[in-house]
Amino acid sequence: MKLSDEQLKTFDESGYLFLPNLFSKEEAQALKTDANNVYASERKEVWREASGVARTAFAAHTYNEGFRLLGAHPRLVEPVEQLLDGPVYMHQFKVNAKAAFDGDVWQWHQDYGTWKRDDEMPEPRAMNIAVFIDDVTAANGPLLFIPGSHKLGVVDAGHDLETTSYPLWTLDRDKVKELADQGGCVAPTGDAGSVLLFSSLLVHASPSNISPFDRTIVYLSLCHVDNHIRAFNREEWIAHRDFTPIEKLADGCLTEYANSKQSKTAATA
Ligand code: SIN
Ligand code: MN
Repeated sequence: MKLSDEQLKTFDESGYLFLPNLFSKEEAQALKTDANNVYASERKEVWREASGVARTAFAAHTYNEGFRLLGAHPRLVEPVEQLLDGPVYMHQFKVNAKAAFDGDVWQWHQDYGTWKRDDEMPEPRAMNIAVFIDDVTAANGPLLFIPGSHKLGVVDAGHDLETTSYPLWTLDRDKVKELADQGGCVAPTGDAGSVLLFSSLLVHASPSNISPFDRTIVYLSLCHVDNHIRAFNREEWIAHRDFTPIEKLADGCLTEYANSKQSKTAATA
């Protein structure tokens, strides 16, 4: 799947691009079932909120079939190869739960801020692609973006080891206010199956989820293979060390997977 000139222009100007309903409801539903199974496991890669509900599952593409397929899906990998101009590897993969009632905030940050400081990734030639596997609404803790903030390079940040269960380099409030006074603040929402591409320099956050609806989003963080990390300070399943280019699968891989899951459920009903 190739992005049009207009889409490339929008990405360049805003730092993000929304692709509504890139995956079907059935594909999203199959991944939601997988996410719940992963969260119910006792794996070390599943980090939890203070309340005990899952916050994120790292590296799920290495131990779950649906996420393995998603991690090499051409509808995701191709546009990123186009934007980064070459082959990409998986720097990080997470399935963020933002669970109903208990999903906690993600403080204001730039992902490249953490990848540079913690992992010594040389350049911001890396980006995120977020796949909604629940409907994301104004009510259930959507991502908040400051459009255009990706043009500012790496912004000053402090290492937040306190406010949530996940350490992150975060921006202070004065800086966020200054940036949002210029760029505004938006919350892209959409159906399960929609996709958001965003620059690793885009300043973003998300509020807690007090609604009764989960807001599960899968993040592929893809990096140009030449730009791989130089320091191995974090666990391998948080900042990956396999820099081989992703080999894209067939476009129908997830549809087939969703169909086979459905027929198994029907057979056991
Ligand atoms: C992130 O910024 O890495 C996650 C934000 C979210 O899932 O709300
Ligand atoms: Mn982030």
